[in-house]
Amino acid sequence: MANIVITGANRGLGLEMAKQYAAEGWDVIGTAREPDEASELAAIDGVTVLPLDASDDASIDRFVQELGDGPIDLFVNNAGVYGPSDFDRGQWLDLFNVNVIGPVRLATALKDHVTKAADGKMVVLSSQVGSIAENDSGSMIYYRTSKAAVNQAWHSLTQQWQDDGLTLAMLHPGWVQTDMGGENADLTPQESVKGMRAVIDGLSPDRNGKFYDQSGREIPW
Ligand SMILES: NC(=O)c1ccc[n+]([C@@H]2O[C@H](COP(=O)([O-])OP(=O)(O)OC[C@H]3O[C@@H](n4cnc5c(N)ncnc54)[C@H](OP(=O)(O)O)[C@@H]3O)[C@@H](O)[C@H]2O)c1
Repeated sequence: MANIVITGANRGLGLEMAKQYAAEGWDVIGTAREPDEASELAAIDGVTVLPLDASDDASIDRFVQELGDGPIDLFVNNAGVYGPSDFDRGQWLDLFNVNVIGPVRLATALKDHVTKAADGKMVVLSSQVGSIAENDSGSMIYYRTSKAAVNQAWHSLTQQWQDDGLTLAMLHPGWVQTDMGGENADLTPQESVKGMRAVIDGLSPDRNGKFYDQSGREIPW
């Protein structure tokens, strides 16, 4: 049976991803900063909840230890934050800790696990607003820089690991009705995750290291 690790799975897109993959029969490991409060996630059949704070190296180390060293078919770095709306140096750095440094630390720590799987994949939830080519409106500078940075990092990992038999991708989920996206967003979490699952299914080594939205459109850097 295939397995998936999803960070930030206690609400929003991560929770919906856990529901849909579990319904397809996958073994799901979903992380939460506060596992005791992740009751909706824990109630899903086939889901194991593990604690993880992506901004804390000790928490990442404990999480990787708890996972053991078996193969992981799909690692989805979903956890992310939107960050400050006005300049605040500390909050901007906090945003980078969660959206950039955490994903890179986790990808590096889980690389051997994903390489052990027959068709291992690593996906990071990025955002279209991280695209410099498609930025024609400005604003959201803090969040945009973090998603542009994680795209660069994921692309670099793809280059470094291109002979190791795993496939990486960056995904924009669309504008989605979650706590982050707000209620006026275009897509429900169900629609977004259904689209992303199809994109993930279609990933292959010859489409390695690319940036797609939930409809499968490739987004320019
Ligand atoms: N919704 C959209 O329209 C949209 C658009 C583009 C990209 N995205 C990206 O999609 C991903 C999921 O977004 P969402 O809309 O589902 O957001 P959300 O509803 O705000 O959920 C964010 C998740 O990330 C977790 N998280 C935050 N900080 C964390 C940390 N330090 N360590 C571990 N987990 C942490 C949260 O856990 P807590 O409950 O503990 O806070 C929560 O589970 C994010 O990377 C986001 O940037 C979303």
